[in-house]
Amino acid sequence: MKRFIKLILAQIFLLAVVNSKRNSRKFLNSNLLIDNDRVKLDLKDDNVNFLVIGDWGGLPVFPYRTIIETQVSKQMTKLGEMYNTQFQLALGDNFYFNGVIDENDKRFKETYEKVFNSKRLKETPWFVLMGNHDHYGNASAQIEYTKQSDNWILPSYNYTIDIKTKQGDNLISILMVDTVLLCGNSGYDWELDKQPKLKSMREKLVANSYLEAFEEELRRVSETDVSYILVAGHFPVWSIAEHGPTQCLQQRLKPLLHKYKVSAYFCGHDHNLQYLEDTYMDHPVQYIVSGAANFVDNSTKHIDDVPENSLKFHWAEGLGIVSGGFMITQANAQNMTFSFYESNGKALYQNIIYPRKL
Ligand SMILES: *[C@@H]1O[C@H](CO)[C@@H](O)[C@H](O)[C@H]1NC(C)=O
Ligand SMILES: *[C@@H]1O[C@H](CO)[C@@H](O)[C@H](O)[C@H]1NC(C)=O
Ligand SMILES: *[C@@H]1O[C@H](CO)[C@@H](O)[C@H](O)[C@H]1NC(C)=O
Ligand SMILES: *[C@@H]1O[C@H](CO)[C@@H](O)[C@H](O)[C@H]1NC(C)=O
Repeated sequence: MKRFIKLILAQIFLLAVVNSKRNSRKFLNSNLLIDNDRVKLDLKDDNVNFLVIGDWGGLPVFPYRTIIETQVSKQMTKLGEMYNTQFQLALGDNFYFNGVIDENDKRFKETYEKVFNSKRLKETPWFVLMGNHDHYGNASAQIEYTKQSDNWILPSYNYTIDIKTKQGDNLISILMVDTVLLCGNSGYDWELDKQPKLKSMREKLVANSYLEAFEEELRRVSETDVSYILVAGHFPVWSIAEHGPTQCLQQRLKPLLHKYKVSAYFCGHDHNLQYLEDTYMDHPVQYIVSGAANFVDNSTKHIDDVPENSLKFHWAEGLGIVSGGFMITQANAQNMTFSFYESNGKALYQNIIYPRKL
């Protein structure tokens, strides 16, 4: 009996060691600590550089990827090497068209690991959130995959990444939001009504408590001395393209972004690159769409639905099967620069912002 108990205790200990090893990881130029829905990234540098892609989720049939996705991966690697990027943000629609079935789904290998297979992209963490297509499938399996993968970080539907520089300064906090939990899911693209909807009482209750938790987290972060607060989700607040502005996010998310002086909101969903700036409650927020890592769509259907003069840049070139684009963000204590690139390496647009006033 005693021996049996010892054996059990030894196993529990081993499991705890393995788990804590999974929660504390070393990468090319950073150390990562996952503490449930809080992630700490300690950089070995005072500058941060990271790549931002959205709507990158390949195809449900062979070869499980698009030409655009492969080209984007190659160019991400090139810029990644050039700028010594420390991580990636992936803004949802990770697996077209119906997400994954479980945590052993081959799409994790075919659409993710085999495509983003350079040293740079393998040895730096990917901070992932989910979009409507991920929620059509088994969303919790994408969270579960965090435990198996070396670099796929999605510990919870929503989580916060707190980034510290080598000097120990709080440089950036990124709040990762699940906009499907917040607003409900949208229909498939070929359906007419594209606005997400909360369909049941239960969905509405979840969304309300989710919004409350988000505001609480945003308030916590805004009370720190962090230089930049970023929020990332899948659905756009502002967009001129096919899906356009998301009404629910305008009502629920936008006032909070301005109230707590968020620097920028990143999203995907529309398959192009857009840069908008909206000043509201005396505070400008940069609204950035980076959703062109797998398909490109040039619709400008909602051009009249964004605030006057808010649109600074829009890109949707190529035939929709070649080209593609993404963003790189570079920041230090002095400033933060957003740059769009086409997958052939052409620099498209750049804007610079300054830290929040404390
Ligand atoms: C979803 O994925 C989780 C984690 O892999 C698994 O436990 C669960 O059985 C899956 N659900 C369905 C309906 O297959
Ligand atoms: C994420 O959402 C859950 C559920 O609403 C909430 O309890 C939690 O505090 C949130 N976490 C973060 C980091 O926002
Ligand atoms: C969008 O692209 C199609 C071809 O793919 C072209 O016929 C059309 O003129 C383009 N529309 C705009 C607004 O650029
Ligand atoms: C941004 O910060 C860098 C590094 O401190 C500095 O070299 C550059 O001049 C700054 N640019 C602007 C426009 O403030």
